[in-house]
Amino acid sequence: MYKIVRKERLNEVTWLFDIEAPAVAQKAQPGQFIILRVAEKSERIPLTIYDYSSDKGTVSIVVQALGKSTHQLAEVPENGSILDFVGPLGHSTEIKNFGKVVCVGGGIGVAPIFPIARALKQAGCEVISIIGARTKDLLILEDQMKQVSDRLLVCTDDGTYAKKGFVTQVLQELLDSEKVARAWAIGPLLMMKAVCDVSRGYKLKTIVSLNCIMVDGTGMCGSCRVSVDGKTMFACVDGPEFDGHEVNFEELTYRQNRFVDKEKCSLEDYRSECQCQAQK
Ligand code: FES
Repeated sequence: MYKIVRKERLNEVTWLFDIEAPAVAQKAQPGQFIILRVAEKSERIPLTIYDYSSDKGTVSIVVQALGKSTHQLAEVPENGSILDFVGPLGHSTEIKNFGKVVCVGGGIGVAPIFPIARALKQAGCEVISIIGARTKDLLILEDQMKQVSDRLLVCTDDGTYAKKGFVTQVLQELLDSEKVARAWAIGPLLMMKAVCDVSRGYKLKTIVSLNCIMVDGTGMCGSCRVSVDGKTMFACVDGPEFDGHEVNFEELTYRQNRFVDKEKCSLEDYRSECQCQAQK
C-alpha cells in the first residue's frame, strides 16, 4: 500500500497528492510517469509526475477528478492509502543547457511541465514559461511555475485572469520578438498541436508529451499508438515525449475522438481533459 501523506485541493476538480513511494522518488526524472491503482478492481491510471523528493521519499501527482477512477482517487483521504504505485516509467526529458527555452503548459499540463522547467533552469537555461487555462479557476501552480522560470507569462481563454487569449497567441508574440532554442508543450492534444503549428513557422523544435492518450500504460492496449515521422510509436513505451513537428496530430485526434460522445464510461471521463478540449 502507498500512503497519501499530503492532499491539497487546487481547484474544484483538481487535486495534488504527495504519495509515499521512496523507490520511485529515488529514480524519478522530469518527463516520466507512474501508473497507480486505487484498489484491486480499479482501473490503472497513468499520470506524469509533477514532483518528487528522494529525501522525503515522496512523489507528487496532480489529478483532475473527472471520471470514475479519478473520482475514486480524489475520495481517498490524506493519510489514506492506494493499492499500487508503479514507476518511474517512460523516457525522461532531455535536459541540458540549450540557452533560451520556452515551456508551455495548458490546463492540467502545467503540472508535468513544472519539473521540466525546473530541471532546465538548474541546467543553466533561461526559462520562459507560458501557462494558461480556460478560466481563472482552472489555472494551477502559478506560484510554483514562477519560482522555476526567469519569466512567466499567464493567460486565460476567457480573460478572467491575466492576459486574455490562448497560450499559442502568447507564444507567437514571444517568438516574433525573441529567438528561442527549444520549446516544450504539454496540455490537451489540440493545444499541443496548435503550439506546434506556431513553432513550426519559426523552425523551433518543440517537444510534446503524450501521456494524455495512454490508457493502460504498459504497451499492451494499443491506445497510445501514434505516428511519429511516419513510424508507428507507442507513447507509453517510446515516449511519452516526442518531437511535436513529427507527430501526426490529425490521425491522433481522429482516433482519440472514439472516446467522445459515447455512453459515459470511466476511461472516457478520465481522458476528457484531452478529448473535450479537442471538441472545442
Ligand atoms: Fe496502452 Fe500505451 S497506453 S499501449
